[in-house]
Amino acid sequence: MNIRCARVDDLMSMQNANLMCLPENYQMKYYFYHALSWPQLSYIAEDHKGNVVGYVLAKMEEDPGEEPHGHITSLAVKRSYRRLGLANKMMDQTARAMVETYNAKFVSLHVRVSNRAALNLYKNTLKFEIVDTEPKYYADGEDAYAMRRDLAKWAEERDIEPADKEAYAVSKNSDDKKKQRH
Ligand code: ACO
Repeated sequence: MNIRCARVDDLMSMQNANLMCLPENYQMKYYFYHALSWPQLSYIAEDHKGNVVGYVLAKMEEDPGEEPHGHITSLAVKRSYRRLGLANKMMDQTARAMVETYNAKFVSLHVRVSNRAALNLYKNTLKFEIVDTEPKYYADGEDAYAMRRDLAKWAEERDIEPADKEAYAVSKNSDDKKKQRH
């Protein structure tokens, strides 16, 4: 099994995997939007024949009022390739690219409150925290947890170099001060 950055010619296979695994589906143009705007951030897992068996579709959030942060639009691994550590590895590769390319301080996502497998992955393996519950977030009326993973400490522990070290350090210091005040 190989994990690599997604290319434009992977997008149809990613959409296919998404249709097989999740009820939240997107038009092809939304995949292109991700791949063309943030080409470093989406990853696929492929089998020995080059078939896409899992993907993470990711982007940066563009809210000028907030610190730079990434967002996981969608993650899925095809059924017979689950529990091999693929989602965990793809999520780490994406997180690394968010820090190295865009100075991301954290990464966010939404997940169904009933999605036990994904919640285990996010909470226990990747150390995301629940920051909010969004009622009726999904089209069928189910609530979502809004979750966040702090990337600053994670990157520091792994010697991952942010895109702009100085800016990253400045925002880290102001974060530390905020924490001290609370
Ligand atoms: N039950 C309990 N814990 C689980 C399960 C499960 N079925 N699957 C994964 N985990 C936890 C375990 O702690 C696991 O570690 P372990 O195997 O050492 O016990 C850890 O997560 C890492 O698992 P991975 O093997 O990396 O996860 P996998 O590659 O199987 O993918 C995923 C997990 C993506 C949730 C997969 O089950 C899937 O595609 N599900 C359907 C689609 C989905 O729900 N996607 C997430 C929606 S939210 C979003 O897209 C932002």
